[in-house]
Amino acid sequence: MKGIILAGGLGTRLYPLTHATNKHLLPVYNSPMIFYPIRTLVSAGIDEILIVTSGPHAGHFIRVLKNGKELGVRHLEYAYQEKPNGGIADALLIGEDFADNDSLTVILGDNTTDADISSQVAAFREGATVFLKKINNKEQIRRFGVAVFDKEHPDKINAIEEKPKIPKSEFAATGLYIYDKKVFDHIRSCRPSARGEIEITDVNNIYIRKKMLQWVELKGFWSDAGTFETLYRANVYWANKGGI
Ligand code: G1P
Repeated sequence: MKGIILAGGLGTRLYPLTHATNKHLLPVYNSPMIFYPIRTLVSAGIDEILIVTSGPHAGHFIRVLKNGKELGVRHLEYAYQEKPNGGIADALLIGEDFADNDSLTVILGDNTTDADISSQVAAFREGATVFLKKINNKEQIRRFGVAVFDKEHPDKINAIEEKPKIPKSEFAATGLYIYDKKVFDHIRSCRPSARGEIEITDVNNIYIRKKMLQWVELKGFWSDAGTFETLYRANVYWANKGGI
């Protein structure tokens, strides 16, 4: 199992902060944001990691992370996404060579969690695993991919809807996924969405249609940190916990 952290984009929702550096290097209490997803992967036993980045501050990562050894990464690679607004799945495609037919745990660079995913990583064989988090707030959940469950079999996922106006459940798709090597073919078969991005949700829906998607409820704290509100929330949580 290898790990890919998607840390591109322009971070426009955090302007003017992201005029100075890449979003994923902004502080979350005592560490740059990207330390958190690195820690999630390394704690799950994944120490070969690719960071896909883009935008004007891509060069800042190497100053902060160097070769990753201080964070327990045995092999760290960087890749550059030409289109900073190409979307998550487009960024993931850049990792095909790095993956080299292995399975992958993918995590968005602005997601912080204290959940332990090592058992799902160890048990993974094929298909896809998505990690869902219950979000009780209707306004908040509309910003995410939201699971649609089967009425007769409430444990069965029928689809994930990206940023739905009327969410059909309280379970959001977090930015944490495990994929087999077929993910790259599935990405290539997707077309850009209305916001011009190849959506990771479309890729996950392909796995659902093939009956190859499993879901797990993420235990513990989870938040993205890509808006002022969620960046603040993540800072407060990790400050109270004493950082990582
Ligand atoms: C992305 C995904 C969405 C997921 C979210 C988690 O949203 O498209 O399905 O729920 O990450 O952070 P975005 O950050 O691109 O708005």
